[in-house]
Amino acid sequence: MAPADITNEVKTSGLRGRGGAGFATGIKWSFIKRDAPGPKYVVVNADESEPGTAKDRYILENSPHMVVEGILIAAYAVGANQAWVYIRGEYDEPYRMLTEAIEEARAKGYIGPKPMGKDYPLDIRLYRGHGAYICGEETALLESLEGKRAQPRSRPPFPAVKGAWGRPTLLNNVETLATVPAIINMGGAAYAKLGTDKSPGTRLLTVSGNVRKPGVYEVEFGKTFRHVIMDLAGGPPEGRKVKVFWPGGSSAPVLPESMLDVTTDAEALAAARSMAGSGGVIVMDDTHCVVKAAHRLLQFYAYESCGKCTPCRIGQDWAVRTYERILANEGSQIELDTLQRVSDGLQNGRCLCGLGDSGGWVIDSTLRHFREEYEDHALRHECNVGKVMANA
Ligand SMILES: Cc1cc2nc3c(=O)[nH]c(=O)nc-3n(C[C@H](O)[C@H](O)[C@H](O)COP(=O)(O)O)c2cc1C
Repeated sequence: MAPADITNEVKTSGLRGRGGAGFATGIKWSFIKRDAPGPKYVVVNADESEPGTAKDRYILENSPHMVVEGILIAAYAVGANQAWVYIRGEYDEPYRMLTEAIEEARAKGYIGPKPMGKDYPLDIRLYRGHGAYICGEETALLESLEGKRAQPRSRPPFPAVKGAWGRPTLLNNVETLATVPAIINMGGAAYAKLGTDKSPGTRLLTVSGNVRKPGVYEVEFGKTFRHVIMDLAGGPPEGRKVKVFWPGGSSAPVLPESMLDVTTDAEALAAARSMAGSGGVIVMDDTHCVVKAAHRLLQFYAYESCGKCTPCRIGQDWAVRTYERILANEGSQIELDTLQRVSDGLQNGRCLCGLGDSGGWVIDSTLRHFREEYEDHALRHECNVGKVMANA
C-alpha cells in the first residue's frame, strides 16, 4: 500500500489513542509531513505508569509482535526510518519479550536495511525509562529520551512538528500501535463497525481493586461499566458493594456506584464528567474511605510532580497538607473550601501538562460525588466507613 493509503485506512477506522488523551490516530499521523527532507521518528510510549493500568505490559509480555508490526506500519506511513520504544524502567519482562521480538524481526529481515525487500531502511531501538510517572507525558518523555531531565515542554510546537531532537515525531501508545495491524488486515471500515460511532473498536481495560477477577479484558466500546466490573471481573467480594470506580486510570474523575451503567466510550464518559483515559478501571467497595483514597492519590501526584510549573508543584502539595489536617480531625469548612480552590487551580490548562489536572480531578470528582463523606471528616470528625461497618 502507498503510505498515504495506510494513513487513510487508519483515519477511516476512527482509531483513537489509547494512551490517555484519546486523540484521533490517523489525523495525528497525517500531521507528519512525510516528504519533508531530514529525519523523522516514531516514538512508542511504553512508559505505562498510570496507577491501575497494566494493559501495555500485558500486550508486551503476550504479543510483542503486534507492537513491532504496528511500529513498522506507522514508520512506513509517516516516513520514519528510526523508531524508539521508551519503556518503563521497571518493566523487565516486557523489555525482554520486546527485545526478543525485535531480534526475531531483524533475523527475518522485517527490519533492517531492506525490510521485506523494500528499499526503506528501518530500525527499532529500546530506551529504558527511569521510574518517574512524568516520563509518560509525551514531551517529558522526549526530553528524557534525549538524555535530559523529564519535564514537559510548552506546546505548540507539538511533537509532529518538533519532537525528538527537534525533528517531526509520531508519538503513540503501545496499545494504539498494536491495534494497527488488525485495522490494516480487516480494513478501516470494518474496524469502524465495532464499538460506537464516535469511539470505534475495542480496547483493553485493566480492572483492579475490589473485584473477584482482576485482570485485563478486551471490551468493545459502548459496553457498560456494570458489565465490565460485575460480569467480567466478577464484582466485589461476597457481601460488599461497589462504592466508587475510576473508569480510566487514577487520573480520570471518579464515578459513584449509581453510575455503573455509564458506557466505556469517550462520549458517554465525557457526558458523565469523566474520561476514558488509560482504560484502568479501579474499583473500591464500601469498606473503603473515599477521603483517605483521595489523600493517597494526592500524595502520589505531589510526589510525582516534576516541579516545572508552579500550580502543580505548589498545588498538589497544598492539597496533601489539607487532607492531612482533615484526616487528623483538625478540619473545618475552611479545609473543604481550600480543597475546592486548590483543585480549581490545578485544572483547565493552568498547568504545563495533564499531571496537574489529574490531582485536581481526584479532588473535584470525589468532592462532587462524596460531599457528605468529606463533611463527615472535616466538620464532624468521623469516618463514614466506620458507620458502614457498624451497620454491617
Ligand atoms: C502525567 C502523564 C503521564 C502519562 N503517561 C502515559 C503513559 O505512561 N503511556 C502513554 O501511552 N501515555 C501517557 N500519557 C499520555 C501521553 O502524553 C500521550 O497523550 C500518549 O502517549 C499519546 O499516544 P496515543 O495518541 O497513542 O494515545 C501521559 C500523560 C500525562 C499527562
